[in-house]
Formats: sequence, structure tokens, C-alpha cells
Amino acid sequence: MLRTRFTETFGVEHPIVQGGMMWVGRAELVAAVADAGGLGFITALTQPTPDDLRREIARTRELTDKPFGVNVTILPSINPPPYQRYVEAIIESGVKIVETAGSNPEPFLPAYRAAGIKVLHKCTSVRHALKAQKIGVDGVSIDGFECAGHPGEDDVPGLILIPAAARALEIPIVASGGIADARGLVAALSLGADGVNMGTRFLCTQESAVHQKVKERIVAHTERDTQLIFRTMHNTARVADNEISRKVVEIEKAGGKFEDVRDLVAGARGRRVFEEGDLDAGIWSAGQVQGLIHDIPTCAELITRMVAEAESLINSRLASMLA
Ligand SMILES: Cc1cc2nc3c(=O)[nH]c(=O)nc-3n(C[C@H](O)[C@H](O)[C@H](O)COP(=O)(O)O)c2cc1C
Repeated sequence: MLRTRFTETFGVEHPIVQGGMMWVGRAELVAAVADAGGLGFITALTQPTPDDLRREIARTRELTDKPFGVNVTILPSINPPPYQRYVEAIIESGVKIVETAGSNPEPFLPAYRAAGIKVLHKCTSVRHALKAQKIGVDGVSIDGFECAGHPGEDDVPGLILIPAAARALEIPIVASGGIADARGLVAALSLGADGVNMGTRFLCTQESAVHQKVKERIVAHTERDTQLIFRTMHNTARVADNEISRKVVEIEKAGGKFEDVRDLVAGARGRRVFEEGDLDAGIWSAGQVQGLIHDIPTCAELITRMVAEAESLINSRLASMLA
């Protein structure tokens, strides 16, 4: 059993988080993580409307009686979704943990606080983590450059970012990006984190509702099989290497603008990858940690194994090195 400031503050058994994942963070996965003692997040915007989110929260409750949360990712967008109504759906459904990401959560914090909701804010730099601490979030999840999705523009990997954050912050820290097993968990705790967040690893579990071919591709991929797209637009995203991501990078290198890649990166194409298993239909998020993923376990197998191996790493391997 690993007890940390994170498990104490957020009321979960193990210091392991399944972060929000567009098209993936649904009831079955979140409930499986919760049942195994981790903290799973439903991804609010995967649900087409706030009412659908209410139903997804209710569905998750039917599957587990353990705590879980909802991820609210707020990114710049031409046609923004009705964020306020999604937040109302979360509060009115009685969810007690929210993961915020993409932008400053300050406008929604008073409402979360009034509802007794704990907020874990995900960010990619020490300065943004400090800002989040200042406005009163309960913990921060910090993504290193190796992560899937949006690593920010500073390109600082977790080995530097996490201890730098631990030195600067007082609130609990969750290390995110590049973690798939007990070694990553123990390393993160050693670096000063209070827990770990995993995306790609949970994407490749039995309960993740993506096509089997996606999971098999993750297992086949190495740590070199990602591409960084939107670098030239200062909105970098780390995605799996495939025909489309390579093409987007080529177009950008040749001076192309967003209009030139808009069709290639459309969300509907990425959705086809996950739903139909057409691996070159569009872009899909995956991290360098693919190189450390060699199987497709259930969430219970994964979490139980990580905790048991972490304990043995600490008790045996590390303890045996003490002269
Ligand atoms: C398929 C996929 C979709 C993701 N979508 C989101 C999202 O909508 N919001 C968010 O905050 N993070 C999103 N992420 C990032 C993860 O929550 C997590 O921070 C990241 O995957 C950590 O890096 P790792 O994959 O190396 O574990 C996504 C990641 C993946 C793999």
C-alpha cells in the first residue's frame, strides 16, 4: 500500500490516475480504474451534450461505488462548447473531483469550491503549476515533454520538470507523461511527486473502448513512434506516428498553415481510428511511453501489478543497494 499526499487529499486507494482522454474516457474505463483503487476521469467533451455527460456519470455510478472524476479540457476553439453547462452537469450530478486542463480554471473555481469539489489541474510548466496553486486548486498534474497530447512549448521532460515542480510547490503533485509501470511510479515518487497520471498506458487496456488494432499498434510501437504536430503553430501535440501525422509534419515544414492541414487533423478522422481501427484514418494521441507497453491488461491487473512491483522495487531492489 502506498500512501501519499495525493491519496489522502483525493480519497483514493492508490496514487495512480487515468487522465482525461478524448473519445476514450468513458464509463467502462473510468469505473474499472476506480474499482481497482485508482482515480479515473470521464472526459466531459467526449459526450456530445451536457445531458449526455449527466447520463455517462450515472452510467459510471451503476458500474462502481468508488470515487471517480470528470475531466474538463478547455482549449481555444472557433465554436466553443457550452463549458458552463458541462460544469453545471458535473456539479448537479454530485461528482466530487474534477481534472481541469487546457487553460486557467479560475473562472470555474468558485462554483467547484462551493460544491465541495476537489480540483486537480493539469499543466505543463512550473510557472503554470505555481499559478494554479495560487488560485487555490487542490493538486496539480504536470505533463512532461514525453506525454501524449499537448506537452506545451517548453520541451522539458519529466526527469527535470517533476523535481523542479516539487521544489517550487506546496500542494500535491501528480507526475504525468512517460509512465507505464512500477519503475515509472517509483521514479516519480523519488522525484518528489505524490502520484502518477497515465494516458497511453490506460488507452491500451481491456476496458478502453478503442479498436483492438489501436491497442496492438501501441504494443508494436517503440518509444520512437510519435510525431510532434502543430509545432509551427505553437500548439504542439504529440501523436502516434502514422501516414497522416507524418504528412502534417511535412506540410508544416514546407511552410503550410492550419488551413492546409485542417482536413487531415479533423476530430472525425481521429475518431475513425479509434472506432474502426483504421490506423491511418487520422491523427490519434499516443506518447513515447508506447516503447514501454508490451501487453493489454485489464485495469485491475495493471494497477495491482504496478503497486505490488513498486513495493518490491522499494523494499528489495532499492533497499538492497543500501550499503
Ligand atoms: C488518446 C488520448 C486522448 C487524450 N485526450 C486528452 C484530453 O481530452 N484532455 C486532457 O486533459 N488530456 C488528454 N490526454 C492526455 C492524458 O490525459 C495524459 O495527460 C497523457 O496521456 C500523459 O502522457 P502518457 O500518455 O505518456 O501517459 C489524452 C491522451 C491520450 C493518449
